[in-house]
Amino acid sequence: MTASDMGENPSNASGKHRWRSLLFVPAHLPKFVDKAHTRGADALVLDLEDAVPWVSKAEARSSLAGSITRLRQQGASVLVRVNNGLRALSADLDAAIVDGVEAVVLPKVESAEWIVAIAEEMLMLEQERGLPPGEIRLVVQIETPTALPRLHAIASAHSRLVAMALGPEDFSASVGGQPMPDLLLAPNLAVLFAARAGGLLPLGFIGSIGEFADLPRFRDTARQARELGFAGAFAIHPAQVAILNEEFAPPAHELEWARRVVAAEEAARSEQLGAFTVDGKMVDRPVILRARALLSFDP
Ligand code: COA
Ligand code: MG
Repeated sequence: MTASDMGENPSNASGKHRWRSLLFVPAHLPKFVDKAHTRGADALVLDLEDAVPWVSKAEARSSLAGSITRLRQQGASVLVRVNNGLRALSADLDAAIVDGVEAVVLPKVESAEWIVAIAEEMLMLEQERGLPPGEIRLVVQIETPTALPRLHAIASAHSRLVAMALGPEDFSASVGGQPMPDLLLAPNLAVLFAARAGGLLPLGFIGSIGEFADLPRFRDTARQARELGFAGAFAIHPAQVAILNEEFAPPAHELEWARRVVAAEEAARSEQLGAFTVDGKMVDRPVILRARALLSFDP
């Protein structure tokens, strides 16, 4: 989807994969996994990477298939985050390419070639296991400055890609800084632009993902993210989930405005006008597209 056909042409980034909240759940901890489907997240991300210490990686992988089956039976949408070191990644893919997984989340992605190589491994596993080829999608996390000049190539690397996010903690650490707005704004916007240009769902917000105590602050961060163009975000704690679900859905007053725009467009069309006025402001094609995109969220 390009900016010019936003709202007119459903793409990867719409429909099934329009997640507002994606909750990371450490895959080796039953106390988190067992009730994860009750936390209200649009998607659960069973994490094999940073939330799992090295000593528990094997245990996390061996419990994965059972967790996926149980969570799917409860109606959850399940993703799996893998490691990026080759040895762990290989074992992770072996455990993660199973029936019921919607997408694999790739951390610390730095090149399009890396994505293509992983997508090929996924295809081989799908074929061996009789799974529909290409159905398990990819979500990319950008976590290093090395990736920044390559974002457009990364976003269009493979048809499995559906979403792209900046990992705020890892990115900040990799540039020697703290996850503060001044540092995170530029890379987040770069990810937003590349994701939109490549037809992917942009995920993220300008702040630390670790913020789950100061919830009013987290809400402000999520609200700003939607206004900037982000479609949803990862979370690490259930308290963040409801906030993301609320803030990444358009508020009632915006939906009402969008309905007025669409109604006014119909009247304007019969008068052969491309530009017209709604609520004292000029409306033309990009504004109409924004209104239609908002209405596509309307339940
Ligand atoms: N997924 C599912 N359930 C979670 C959860 C998560 N990520 N984080 C907390 N919970 C559950 C707890 O088990 C607890 O459940 P209960 O009320 O039924 O007992 C409830 O939510 C409240 O948890 P709380 O006590 O406030 O948090 P905690 O101190 O147990 O854990 C963290 C705090 C940050 C350690 C924990 O949220 C966590 O590990 N998050 C994931 C971190 C991660 O994935 N990092 C890598 C990606 S960046
Ligand atoms: Mg990390």
